[in-house]
Amino acid sequence: MMPDLNIFECNLGEPAERIKLATEIIGQFPDLNMLVNNAGIQRFWNFDSPHVADRSAYQEEIAINLEAPIHLISLFMDHLHTVGSATSINVTSGLAFVPYAKVPVYCATKAGLHSFTLSLRRQLKNSGITVLEIIPPAVDTDLGGEGLHTYGVNVSEFASTVFQRLANGEQEVGFGGSEEVRQFGKDQITKRFELLNK
Ligand SMILES: NC(=O)c1ccc[n+]([C@@H]2O[C@H](COP(=O)([O-])OP(=O)(O)OC[C@H]3O[C@@H](n4cnc5c(N)ncnc54)[C@H](OP(=O)(O)O)[C@@H]3O)[C@@H](O)[C@H]2O)c1
Repeated sequence: MMPDLNIFECNLGEPAERIKLATEIIGQFPDLNMLVNNAGIQRFWNFDSPHVADRSAYQEEIAINLEAPIHLISLFMDHLHTVGSATSINVTSGLAFVPYAKVPVYCATKAGLHSFTLSLRRQLKNSGITVLEIIPPAVDTDLGGEGLHTYGVNVSEFASTVFQRLANGEQEVGFGGSEEVRQFGKDQITKRFELLNK
């Protein structure tokens, strides 16, 4: 279906696999000029429960959603600097702005990635690297498990709108509810938090 697509398998939860991935890709594609940090997982955790005392239970979520994007950016940075004009895209979430308490680690990782993206954009402002952020609302994918996001917006509709806005030069783009919450002030965040978590 996509004959020009090259696929490299990697468990992004493992730092050594990230290093191997970056080395292989940069070696094989010296003109590569874009890094998209899209991979993510979402798990339900109840911290009012003994089992979360096991760090490994939620460490993987932090490793994949937050540590991996930061690590990959650092691994690709030297290369992206060499190609003249490049783009780094991070996929966060509307839940970075208004947390859904049933997926607390997920929300924290996305808030962290949003924060990191702001800092990265500032640090790279005089470089040839553009830093973009996509902030999805609930989208109808298999995130968190099959059937959990069927109430979300259609993937194609979401993607075509977001990519058009990025192509038009916007650097931080949400859609529907996430476009709304990314611009919220404190009072609006508090109200939406109560509504989302009642
Ligand atoms: N769907 C939503 O409602 C929603 C809302 C806000 C933000 N987002 C964000 O959008 C991004 C894409 O998610 P999605 O909705 O498309 O969910 P998805 O259908 O579950 O896709 C998740 C993607 O992450 C990859 N991935 C997960 N664990 C990985 C690992 N250890 N190593 C490498 N890749 C791994 C998966 O690869 P495999 O297919 O190979 O497992 C898959 O490509 C995520 O960052 C998510 O947090 C989604």
